[in-house]
Amino acid sequence: MTTARPYHAEIYNPVYTRYTLLFVYACVTYAIIGFSWGAIMGGIPALRNFVDYAPHGKLILLAHGHINLLGWVEMAIFGAIYYFIPRLVNRPIYSLKLVKVHFWIHNVGLMGMVVLFTLAGSIGGYTPDAHSEQMVNHLMAGVGFFGTLVLLANIIWGYNIFKTGKNGPDYIAATDTKTEQTRSSNFTTGNLVNP
Ligand code: HEM
Ligand code: HEM
Repeated sequence: MTTARPYHAEIYNPVYTRYTLLFVYACVTYAIIGFSWGAIMGGIPALRNFVDYAPHGKLILLAHGHINLLGWVEMAIFGAIYYFIPRLVNRPIYSLKLVKVHFWIHNVGLMGMVVLFTLAGSIGGYTPDAHSEQMVNHLMAGVGFFGTLVLLANIIWGYNIFKTGKNGPDYIAATDTKTEQTRSSNFTTGNLVNP
């Protein structure tokens, strides 16, 4: 006889919950920084002229774009998928350690990219000479390095999600039919926790 497991019981892990929330908090933080950046950059004519017309000023626009895209947008996607996938397949995340590594590598990579984009845009725009051209090139190589960290973080995330989903509901149904049936009936009654 199989004993029905409470739906969600094995998924719940306080550290996993904390990290999922950290992705959501990071999303909100980057949104506040990125949107304010856009409002200030667009609202102050001197700044708008600088980013539109100074040599390399466009790199400051790119810092704004990437903090929004890799910060606000991606963090929201990460938080939502980390919440959703374990519930979809009714099993815990494959590796909690990889969730932590993903969070920190992505944040370090993104912050590095944004700081170096901004420095390159400022140095290149204020002192457009041969020396600063060289500096801009070095700083952009740094953007490439930190961008690679962001890429690595995304690969780690994808791997962890793939491994979590690999033995999905079919596997559970075959080994624990009762649980699967109880889950289905709870879904239809809108109750996510077994009585
Ligand atoms: C309150 C929110 C925002 C404000 C006030 C804002 C403002 C601006 C301004 C003023 C520009 C530069 C226009 C120019 O002079 O050429 C810009 C460019 C840009 N913004 Fe935003 N923005 C906001 C949110 C976002 C979000 C949420 C995203 C992405 C998800 C985003 C992505 C971009 C991109 C990709 C560019 C162009 C970068 C480029 O041309 O290289 N922005 N934004
Ligand atoms: C590891 C991640 C990424 C790195 C290292 C990176 C790097 C760069 C660089 C160096 C540029 C400047 C190219 C130039 O000189 O004109 C650029 C432009 C841009 N990137 Fe990214 N990027 C990344 C991810 C993304 C993602 C995920 C998005 C969108 C979802 C994006 C959207 C853009 C946009 C809109 C531009 C501006 C194009 C333009 O206005 O000329 N990037 N990126």
